[in-house]
Amino acid sequence: MSDSVPVSDSVPMSDSVPKTDRPMTDGAPGLDTSDVAERRSAYARLFRLDGRRVLVVGAAGGIGREVALGLAAHGASVLCADKDDVGAAETARLIEAARLADPVAWSGRGTTYPVDVLDPAALGRAADELGALDGLVLMPATNVRKRLLDYSGEEFDRVVSLNLRAAFDLVRAFAPGMVARGRGSIVAFSSIRAVTVEPGQGVYAATKAGLVQLLRTAAAEFGPHGVRVNAVAPGIVDTPLTAQIKAVPEWASAYAGKSALGRWARPDELVGAVVYLVSDASSFVTGTQLFVDGGWTAIDGRYTPPA
Ligand SMILES: NC(=O)c1ccc[n+]([C@@H]2O[C@H](COP(=O)([O-])OP(=O)(O)OC[C@H]3O[C@@H](n4cnc5c(N)ncnc54)[C@H](O)[C@@H]3O)[C@@H](O)[C@H]2O)c1
Repeated sequence: MSDSVPVSDSVPMSDSVPKTDRPMTDGAPGLDTSDVAERRSAYARLFRLDGRRVLVVGAAGGIGREVALGLAAHGASVLCADKDDVGAAETARLIEAARLADPVAWSGRGTTYPVDVLDPAALGRAADELGALDGLVLMPATNVRKRLLDYSGEEFDRVVSLNLRAAFDLVRAFAPGMVARGRGSIVAFSSIRAVTVEPGQGVYAATKAGLVQLLRTAAAEFGPHGVRVNAVAPGIVDTPLTAQIKAVPEWASAYAGKSALGRWARPDELVGAVVYLVSDASSFVTGTQLFVDGGWTAIDGRYTPPA
């Protein structure tokens, strides 16, 4: 696969941040027109990812496909990795088709990279083949929605292997390159289940809580080397992962009603959080968990007192 990987065109990650700390006020004393123009331009570029190389693992569908498209729309060269090589290739094709349709607005590129994250040796090879990365986005997860007493050991191992062990292996494969270069942003997908549970979500919830602690530790260990590490925690999103819930009308509508917005999220509604965390717009954000849950975790929801 190495011949399908674009040559690194990375740029330093701090080029788009303003260079002065004076307030941005047209005509203010001490702020000439060129300062104002420079600041406007710098702030307008905050979310731009031109020249950045970002690996999205789990890009074949669900939230990952939208994230890959969104990063490319902001100028990134996106490596679309997945064990589903057909789906990943389709994501890369959609990016390239968008770029061909509007090369001025869509400078980002899409490339396919088939990989099974349950194979640590394959991750080591991928890190060698892919070279310098500015961003790493981790999506893969699975859920077996059963009560603890009904879980088998095999089911426990399957959920933990993908949701926690693979994230551990991915960070260990790709972070060393970022640490060596002194820059990079790692974003992994947690869940509202990292902080709130219900019957039948125990093992998934434990992996997501564990993932957050792993990421916080990574933020602590890599921060001195300029590498940021954060989590995005979605609420309920309409993807293949939640098809089991969507198929049961009472379950689906109860979940919609739990968020303040009264509905499920679309996968594209997770894009903004990832673009923010990969880009210089979040240059001082690390070790955090950004909830994109429509207000789910803010509200108890057990009872609404009379007005
Ligand atoms: N959908 C939701 O409601 C929701 C809610 C909270 C958190 N999340 C989290 O968001 C992330 C993405 O969820 P989604 O709903 O898009 O999931 P999804 O199941 O739709 O997509 C997951 C992607 O990961 C890929 N993948 C699975 N196993 C892999 C492996 N071994 N190697 C490489 N790729 C593999 C799949 O092929 C798929 O493309 C997950 O971490 C999930 O826990 C989702």
